Amino acid sequence: METLFIGKNLLFLTEVESTNTYAMGLLRNVNTVEGTVVYTDNQSRGKGQRGAVWNSAVASNITASIILKPRFLGDDESFFLSKISALAIYDVLTDVLNSSHYDIKIKWPNDILVNSGKIAGILIENNYHQQMLQHSVIGIGLNVNQADFQELAGTATSLKLLTGQQHDRAEVLEKLCRQLEKWYLLLKSGNRGRIRETYLARLKGMHQTLTFTLPGDANMPFRAKIVDVDRGGKLCLEMEDAQLRRFDVKELRFTE
Ligand code: BTN
Repeated sequence: METLFIGKNLLFLTEVESTNTYAMGLLRNVNTVEGTVVYTDNQSRGKGQRGAVWNSAVASNITASIILKPRFLGDDESFFLSKISALAIYDVLTDVLNSSHYDIKIKWPNDILVNSGKIAGILIENNYHQQMLQHSVIGIGLNVNQADFQELAGTATSLKLLTGQQHDRAEVLEKLCRQLEKWYLLLKSGNRGRIRETYLARLKGMHQTLTFTLPGDANMPFRAKIVDVDRGGKLCLEMEDAQLRRFDVKELRFTE
């Protein structure tokens, strides 16, 4: 792999419950080198965000976890890892899809959509030590060759569904490692402004007025404009009365 450290230590498992859980276990038990990538062809109990499951057809997609040791980030800065992971996936997709037919967007906080279908999700698990991040496991599910999404048909997509072609998963994984390393090194070198700006520029609905609902109040939709995502990852909305309000991911639903 042509990277400095991400993916130099590649650990392939034929089957595992969750690459994230496996990677967290590695960090507990052995001194695992930064940049280690754990990936599998068959994840039997993949974890999604907010307690959801992540189902992925066997030997079709990328289900991988990357171990990082971002000890330069404070415990309130972990959202930077979400941003750089989303940016890295975005760059891989731009490279592979390479045509203006594809509208690639980051859906807050860190889903990746192409032509409005979800192609990738990110689940990050962190350990902290003395108010700093100690270890992070960046779990990425990227749909490559899966063509049938069953109950998710219409909301999920893959490179195969978009292009009509099979894609080489090893090549896509290598690109992902390269892009993640690029953004991670940029973060490490202190270039947070560029990360923040690029994330916002690629965010679905940025500067647009959209319809939202609060989880307990699905029949009370409201219109508001997305104006920012703060350091902690909260979405900042300008309400109809011009007030600014911040929402955590658990506190808000997009309805379009
Ligand atoms: C989401 O809900 O959008 C996040 C999905 C994250 C899935 C990936 S697949 C590899 C890694 N291992 C897991 O158990 N989950 C993540």
